[in-house]
Amino acid sequence: MKIVVIQGPNLNMLGHRDPRFYGNVKLEQIHKNLEDLAKQNKFEVEFFQSNFEGEIVDKIQECIGECDGILINPAAYSHTSIAIADAIAMAQMPVVEVHLSNIFSRDEFRKKSYTGEVSTGVIAGFGPFGYHIGLLSLMQIITEVTLAKQNVAK
Ligand code: DQA
Repeated sequence: MKIVVIQGPNLNMLGHRDPRFYGNVKLEQIHKNLEDLAKQNKFEVEFFQSNFEGEIVDKIQECIGECDGILINPAAYSHTSIAIADAIAMAQMPVVEVHLSNIFSRDEFRKKSYTGEVSTGVIAGFGPFGYHIGLLSLMQIITEVTLAKQNVAK
């Protein structure tokens, strides 16, 4: 079972961004923690970061038929990108959106997430631990779906 983690614009700069919202943990550390958690649960995980909207759309399209779930932080594109939202809506697999900060307690424009509206669920405001919660949720959903399919096949 495979999960792809997609990170949007400026998340490669964690550690340099405003620590009030994003803390001090770097993206490499978040990915290392996710890798360990996935391994413990016998899941495979792949990481992708891009500052370009079209590259994120391409990556979601590539996931179709290639993986079982997507963990995504579309960052600022959450609030603007119909293209990424359309790609998520088409993905036909569980997609969990994560935000380090609580997007509902910040600027007015951050309260709307086009991508969150079409995702399976959204986790916001827990800092790097949000990725941990997101990966756990995805692994649980994928395991349940797989078991349900096996039961139907019996
Ligand atoms: C973010 C929240 C977005 O509003 C912001 O543009 C980001 C990061 C978060 O993880 O809290 O770049 O997605």
